[in-house]
Parts: sequence; structure tokens; C-alpha cells
Amino acid sequence: MGIIFNEDNSLVHIKSKNTSYIFKIIETGHLINLYWGRKINSNKINYVVKKRACGSFLADLDNIDALHLEVIAQEYPSYGNPDLRSPAIQVKLANGTTVTDFRYESHEIYRGKKKLEGLPATYAEKEDEVESLEITLKDEVANLRVILSYTVFENYDSITRSCKVINDSNDEVDILRALSANVDFTHSEFDLIQLSGSWARERHIVRTTLRSGRQCIESRRGASSHAQNPFIALVSKDATEDKGEVYGFNLIYSGNFLASVEVDMHSNARTQIGINPFDFTWNLESGQSFQTPEVVMVYSPNGLTGMSHIYHDLYRERLCRGAHRDKERPILINNWEATYFDFNNEKIKEIAKESSKLGIELFVLDDGWFGERNNDDCSLGDWFVNEEKLKGGLNSLATDINKMGMQFGLWFEPEMISPKSKLYEEHPDWCIHIDGRIRSEARKQLILDLSRDEVCEAVIKMLTDVLKSAPISYVKWDMNRHLTDLGSAYLNSKEQKELSHRYVLGLYYILEKLTQRFKNVLFESCSSGGGRYDAGMLYYMPQTWASDNTDAICRLKIQYGTSILFPAITMGSHVSIVPNHQVGRITPLKTRFAVASSGNLGYELDLNKLNDEEKEEIKKQVAWYKQYRDVIQKGTFYRTKSPFNGNDISWNFISEDENTVICYFHQILVEPIYRNLILKLKGLQEDALYNLVGTDKVFSGSELMYAGLMIPKIEEDFYSNIYVFKKSV
Ligand code: DGJ
Repeated sequence: MGIIFNEDNSLVHIKSKNTSYIFKIIETGHLINLYWGRKINSNKINYVVKKRACGSFLADLDNIDALHLEVIAQEYPSYGNPDLRSPAIQVKLANGTTVTDFRYESHEIYRGKKKLEGLPATYAEKEDEVESLEITLKDEVANLRVILSYTVFENYDSITRSCKVINDSNDEVDILRALSANVDFTHSEFDLIQLSGSWARERHIVRTTLRSGRQCIESRRGASSHAQNPFIALVSKDATEDKGEVYGFNLIYSGNFLASVEVDMHSNARTQIGINPFDFTWNLESGQSFQTPEVVMVYSPNGLTGMSHIYHDLYRERLCRGAHRDKERPILINNWEATYFDFNNEKIKEIAKESSKLGIELFVLDDGWFGERNNDDCSLGDWFVNEEKLKGGLNSLATDINKMGMQFGLWFEPEMISPKSKLYEEHPDWCIHIDGRIRSEARKQLILDLSRDEVCEAVIKMLTDVLKSAPISYVKWDMNRHLTDLGSAYLNSKEQKELSHRYVLGLYYILEKLTQRFKNVLFESCSSGGGRYDAGMLYYMPQTWASDNTDAICRLKIQYGTSILFPAITMGSHVSIVPNHQVGRITPLKTRFAVASSGNLGYELDLNKLNDEEKEEIKKQVAWYKQYRDVIQKGTFYRTKSPFNGNDISWNFISEDENTVICYFHQILVEPIYRNLILKLKGLQEDALYNLVGTDKVFSGSELMYAGLMIPKIEEDFYSNIYVFKKSV
């Protein structure tokens, strides 16, 4: 049993394979968090709720002397009654007040997990692999209910949470804030880890010490964004990759989010995650409900690697869906950096022909194939082929590419509309805008108002028509600007502050329809690179273009940071030309491959511009990746030396059957004085013997993990090498 409700002491114990999460309903009906950590075998840990001396200025709960909700670890605090820390929920009632008081009403425990209406979420494949709990809280005065939902994935050692707010009153109310989860820790001896960056520098690992006050990351951009990923981890001060306590929170959502930690005057650390309350109000009419997105909470006593392994397994197997979830992903070639907008049928087929000779499996035609799009200032929304560029149309091109032995894939940016487009001529009010104000363009484009049903249906139709018109096996779904000038010609004045969330709901609706309609198409998400690399998008599209930055050295940090949360199979990673188009760096082809082959491999260059030697090298790379991709795409990933700490970087993968180990080593710059470089692997079996493939050298697992492999002096900048080991059986 994953969830126990102990009637004797009103204590809830949520157990996974190795963890316990415990809270209690106290006499007043409030939910108090008692424990989250390693599994414990007790349902009687009430004693951990202690009264703490904290002065007399705090208000008493129910006027019970010295019962201070403000210093108690609450499960889902509401505002002002009488906890004055950041609330998880705040609602403006019909009388204009914003204080609510939610207390236990009932609960239900069941095997399985319900779908989250209109939102992406983790799922169970069989009912008996998870257990769920729904706790209903009620504010008697306001006549509102909140249902807190918990699901425990026992074997994946993770707990998911979300909530639903229900308006049982006769009045409409405004939800000002409804976060997905709140966890109060009764100390603040943690560091905070976040994944932050910018365009071309996504998901760098940032670790800071918690301090008094509120620290938060957020997005107000309408998308999860390059700047912050909807993820935080609180880690014990001594936490490393392999040791120490880690508490991870990841929101399955692609829009505006908030993740915050508030260290209060009593050194409690209140941790929250959910939809960003900034510029958000949801008008909830009588009888209506509001569902928050889901958060995945992971505890690991084994450092960051322990946490990453849980997220990787869960996301690969119980978040990603569809025909491609368990399939090896095709090696693709994309024409973007090869041609940009300057291509025609012949040029595309020349690249495709060379690609097929080298064993590449999928050709992806990027931006510029539709409308009058010869640069980035027009035609978004006009999703019909540009016959001047592609004579004979898509069907003929895709069929020709199929005949070369490759699948055909296509780029779209479906959420956008160019002011210079036929679609805009017909529907100038379909974009997000405010009448009378300037419509601010970014890359000469505006955003479709996905809060409107008719716009969503039109997008679905436009894409359906194209996808049916030719043998298209893959879609790259791009999004190249953020939401500004927030206003909708469709929503009424009470609903305008719902637009950002409604946009995301509209997007999810479209994605659900299209991915269900085209079940065999492989969808890859993209947003100017990795600007929307989040768990929400992964539910619909099992891979993401990790960054527009294809430089191998920059990618070391981007991919290493991404691996904190996401498995390699989700991470689109391409070999491109040198000098690199984003940073101008010249790196060896071997290094570019080593970095790209640590994810979901692709190429993004004009093969016709390479010499025979380079093409031969690529042919070997492609063959190598085909031989080992199951290890990379389905194996277990270990970070062993961080690019955030130094000049030499490494990681290794271990195959599902544990017989193959692939270890990557990178040196950024040659150093003047040679230090012994030792490469220590992780995750091997101590007593097993491993042969370094291509040599007669055999090492024990313990030797490779603890003494390590000696790397000779390498007098090469931007150097990478891949070591493959096979376990002797
Ligand atoms: C941004 C993407 O990240 C690129 O890969 C490329 O598809 C361009 N958009 C095309 O406009």
C-alpha cells in the first residue's frame, strides 16, 4: 500500500519504495506536514510537531492560546488566517476580502491516477502501479472547496501533486493565486539549485545558499522560457552528485510559473511552485472549478544523481507518450544551418542524397518552405507550400526523399501569425493584442490568440491538411517569441488576466488533438532552441531541440545542466559546421560528434560542402551511433566531472542490461603543465570485469570507479574522446 490514512491519529503516510511523506490533520482541520525523506516505518510521528517559542505577536489559530499556524509546517496554506507567509492560495471573494480558511472535509484513496483535464501530467500504465489520495478542504464561510491530489509512483520513488478549486457558492470569485504545491521545511539549512540561462545558454546549473527572505525564479513571458526552467531543488549543504539530501520540484507546465522559497523569521523554508500569480486572475463562476498543473516532487538521499535518475526514468516512461516513447529515435539531418531560407528542391535533394549515403535516417526541412517565406519577415500562418521554391510540392519532395531511404520531416511555427500573411489579412483580430495599442512585433511576428476556440481549430486544420498532404513522419514545432501586449479580442474584461494560462491550455488542446490524430508522427518541440524545454511539452512531444547553440563547447554546459532533469533521449543535439554559426569557434568533427551523440543525434550542415574524409568520418559516426544508441537513449546516465567546475569534463552511460558502458571525456583547453587526468566512472559493478573495446585492456569495475582511467597528456584544445567498455560475461 502506497498511502495509509491512520484514522486513530488522522495521519497520512505516503510511501514509495524508499521515501516517506507524512502529514497530519490537526483538531482544527488544518493539514500539517510532519516529514519528507527516507522511508520510515511508523505512523505515529506526531511528536515532531513541537511548539516553538516565537514571541507573542503572532495571532492564535481559533484563538487557542499560542497555537500559531505561522510557525507550523502547513500543507496548503491560505492567506491571512492567521499565517502571513506567502499563501498557496488566495481568492478574492464577492465581498472584496481575500482571506480564506480551508479545513479538512473528507478524503479518498484509490489505486490508479485520474487524468488532469486539459493539462499534461504523469500517468500510470496499470492501475496497480500507483496509488492516489484526494483530500478535500473546505472554507465554510466562502463556500469554496480545494481538492489536493497526491499520487505516489511507488517504484519511481516520486510523488505528484496538483489541486482543484471549486466554487460552491452562489457568487463568482477571483482566484488570485492557486499554486500546485507547498512544502514547509522547519529549517532552512539548504542550498537552492535552479536551471537558468538565456537564448543559446539554456539550463546552466546555479547553486546558491538560502538566505532570509523570499527567493524565487519565475517566468512572465508566456512560455517556461530560456531564462528559468520550472524546476528547483533544495539540497543539503553537503549535497554533491552522489551524497546528501535533495528535494526536487518540477512543474509540468509550459507557461508563466513561479517557484519560490521563503525563509521566514523563524528559519522555516516555505517552498512553493505553480502558475505565476503575476498578472493572473481566474474568474470562477458559481459551480465552476479550476485545475492547477501538476508538480513532480522527488526526494533523493543520494545526491543530485539520485534525483536525476528518478526524473529520467519517470519522464521517459510515465510522462512521454505515444508510438515513439520506447522506440530508438532516428538520426536526422536538418537543413537550417545548411541553407537558412535559401533553398530549392534541387538543393534539398542534394543534401538528402548525401545524407542517405552516410546512413542518416530522417531529413528535416526547416523554416522557409511555405507562403512567401524567403526570410523571417512574413508568411507565418500561411501553411501551404511555396511552389516557386519547391516545385512539385511537398508530396513529391517527401516521396523522393523516401525513395532515397529516408523519412521526411517538416518545420512549423503554428502558434504565430505574420502581419505580412494571408491569414492576417483575413483575421487581423486573431492575434494577441489590445485595441488601440501598438502590436509589438518580435522577429516580425505576432502570436495567435489560443484562448479562442476558433483559432485553435483553425491551427489544427491547417496542420492536418499539410500532414495529410505528404508522407511526413516528423514535425519540428517551433515558437520564436514571447507574449507581450496581453489582450484578447475574444475574452471579456473579467477574463483578460486569464489569457496567459488560457493560451497554454489552447496550445495543449491543439497538441493533444494533433498528436492523437497523427500517432505515428514523431514530434519535436523547439522554442528558439530550448526556450520551452519543459515537462509539459514532453508529454506531447518526446524530444526537444535543446539549444540553437550548436557549438560543442557551449553545449557541454547546456547538456550537462539539462541532464539534471531530462534524459538524453529527449535532448535534440546536432553536429554542425565550423566555424560555428553562434560563437565562431572551430572544434574538431570528433568533438562535435562526441557532444551531439550524448543526446538524440542529428546533423545540421550541408554535407556537400564537406570533403570526402569528413564524409567518411560522418558515415562512421552514424554507424557507431546506430550500434550504441540504445545505451544512450535508454541507459542510465552518470555525471562524473562538471563543465561548471573545470577544464576536463566527463560523463558515462550504462546500458539497460549493464553490459555496455560508454564514457565521454572532454578537455576544453590544453594546459601548460600536465596534471594527471584521471577519469573515474560511475554505476559499474565493482567485481565485474570490463574490456575497453578496441584494446585488450581489461579493468575491474572497482578499478574504473575508484582508481580511474589515466588519460594521457592531450595537446589539443576542444578535445573529446569516447571510451566503450563491454562487461565480460
Ligand atoms: C529557431 C529554431 O530554434 C531553429 O532551429 C530554426 O528552426 C529557426 N527557428 C527557424 O526559424
